Amino acid sequence: MVRARQARRGGYRRIAWKGLRMKLLLLFISYAIVLSVALARAGHRSRPASSSGAARLKPTRILIVGATGGTGRQLLRRALERGYEVTALVREPSRLQVDHPRLRVVRGDVLDRNSVELATRGQEAVLCALGHRRYFYPSRILSQGTRNILRAMEAQGVPRLVCETSMGIGDSAGRLGLYFTFFVIPVILPFYFWDKTRQERFIAGSSVEWVIARPGVLTNGDERGSSRHGRRVGSFLSTVRISRADVAEFMLAQLTSDAYLRSAPGVCW
Ligand SMILES: NC(=O)c1ccc[n+]([C@@H]2O[C@H](COP(=O)([O-])OP(=O)(O)OC[C@H]3O[C@@H](n4cnc5c(N)ncnc54)[C@H](OP(=O)(O)O)[C@@H]3O)[C@@H](O)[C@H]2O)c1
Repeated sequence: MVRARQARRGGYRRIAWKGLRMKLLLLFISYAIVLSVALARAGHRSRPASSSGAARLKPTRILIVGATGGTGRQLLRRALERGYEVTALVREPSRLQVDHPRLRVVRGDVLDRNSVELATRGQEAVLCALGHRRYFYPSRILSQGTRNILRAMEAQGVPRLVCETSMGIGDSAGRLGLYFTFFVIPVILPFYFWDKTRQERFIAGSSVEWVIARPGVLTNGDERGSSRHGRRVGSFLSTVRISRADVAEFMLAQLTSDAYLRSAPGVCW
């Protein structure tokens, strides 16, 4: 009799626990969906590219922001190989470990308007591969830093910005695949991605000629030279990737092409 009662109680507890887990799971899925919708609405939404895709004159002097980072290093090496006169805005010059007659290094911080203005002076284009690792609390490094870059560009008449953000926002929401949409972004990167939406809005609201490059998940692999790009690349199911080397190639190509002017193409393998 007692045993039967205990077994019944144990059964009730198991059912209650199962129900609670189910509710928590549904709550989490709802949160991930709401976040994804919010990122879709807050990020930039591209219209189909309306420009002719015509080539344009190659700039000579370019500024790279984030040159000590993964994509930034690829940009720097390739830009020097192509004959650009490069200025790198870096927080710690010793991290750059590149010495080249066409490379000028400016020590500074994107959050410091003076150093951004100094680095931007005399440039014809800016490549921005800004990123950080402060994932777990709200930050404005990407948006405020990019805003400072845009202000300096507008004040000094620097025409073109090519900026790396990420798939997963604006009209690319969900396109990093299920794992990122339902785990990585809602659990690890909500603040980071929210700041990216602000970063994109500042860029889209500026008067410079801009291209936002939204890569899939980045790898340190070799350049394949066969990336897919455009508004509709990416996958709602599986994680899409691309190497930083291929992203750098894509970004450099945007300096001399109007194909994606004022739009935010995704780029992935
Ligand atoms: N990881 C991925 O799978 C993935 C996927 C899609 C998009 N993305 C995005 O792609 C971008 C580049 O990523 P990554 O991994 O190649 O770069 P990264 O290695 O994170 O490098 C970021 C760069 O930004 C610089 N930086 C950070 N804060 C700065 C500040 N206040 N002033 C000046 N420079 C500052 C860093 O300089 P220090 O060396 O001084 O720190 C570094 O050079 C990021 O926005 C990232 O979110 C990443």
